[in-house]
Amino acid sequence: PFQILMVNMKLFAALVLVATSVSSFTLTNSPRFTRQALILNNGKIGVFFGTSTGSTEEAAEKIQEAFGDVAVGPIDVDAIQGNIGEEFSKYDALVVGTPTWNTGADTERSGTGWDEIYYGEMQDLKIQGKKVAVFGLGDSVSYGENYADGSGELHDVFEGLGCQMLGYVSQEGYLHEKSKAIRGDKFCGLLLDAVNQEELTDERVANWVEQLKTEGILDGSSSGTIPAPEVTTVPEPAVAAVDSIEDTLARLERENAELKKLLESDAQSPQAPSQPAEAPLMVHPVNGEAFTPHTNLQTGKTMWVSQNGRSCYYTTTTKMSASRVAP
Ligand SMILES: Cc1cc2nc3c(=O)[nH]c(=O)nc-3n(C[C@H](O)[C@H](O)[C@H](O)COP(=O)(O)O)c2cc1C
Repeated sequence: PFQILMVNMKLFAALVLVATSVSSFTLTNSPRFTRQALILNNGKIGVFFGTSTGSTEEAAEKIQEAFGDVAVGPIDVDAIQGNIGEEFSKYDALVVGTPTWNTGADTERSGTGWDEIYYGEMQDLKIQGKKVAVFGLGDSVSYGENYADGSGELHDVFEGLGCQMLGYVSQEGYLHEKSKAIRGDKFCGLLLDAVNQEELTDERVANWVEQLKTEGILDGSSSGTIPAPEVTTVPEPAVAAVDSIEDTLARLERENAELKKLLESDAQSPQAPSQPAEAPLMVHPVNGEAFTPHTNLQTGKTMWVSQNGRSCYYTTTTKMSASRVAP
């Protein structure tokens, strides 16, 4: 009974632990906590742009608005030169945009502050694995052979730093002839044309932002956010290695069944020694309890089982051994 009480006390302690951890888990998953985490999650995405005459800045504003509170900016790269690494490190993902100028040149095609940092300051950045999506402005009719070439350069600089590039867009519906912003059969980001297709800008931005969400721009690590609530794992309660009464009875029943089977097979065998039809009861010399014998003719052992099934003894031939297996 003492052992059973001990086990029950452990189970009770485990139940208390489970109840406590369940209530604390419920608390950390309450709407209030989730709302707080969401507020601190604001700014997962930084929207950056370069511009010469303002079109790319306007597009950047639309993109930030389409993302809502999870995006910060838009931030002009001219304003953060010399501090690019620190600025980029504030965000889990970057959305970066550029126009195209300097037609015909191979590099430094943006005509903005990006050209100053691509092959200088940016080359020291350790932003491997950061999610980056590119957008770009150009004139797909007047510069149809070089439509948004500068977006391709912006893409390649970030990709060269080991960033995870997102947001590739189909060329369908555009008016260009050629572009250095094509990767595979797609544009390497969202291309816009504020000169010839301005009426398509809002829809293109909305679709692209949805695409980026689907591609997981908001997933993954979240610097500056509350870590996910820790769930306490309750270890399995340690149950003392004591056979329960039920287990002992089940074991005795199994042994009984085995012995019975052996007795039956012995009875059918012609060489088997004759067995009494009714097994005699044996009375315990000390407490007077009656025991039923079950003899294994192969081993010569007899198992004596008390009437309530809680005790048993083994004997060989007539001599009783002291191998009591259950109290
Ligand atoms: C001199 C000049 C050169 C340009 N070169 C290109 C070009 O090579 N490819 C292109 O797609 N657009 C070109 N454009 C169009 C601009 O990229 C487009 O007007 C863009 O919207 C400007 O963006 P921003 O206002 O942010 O500077 C050029 C425009 C001018 C005036």
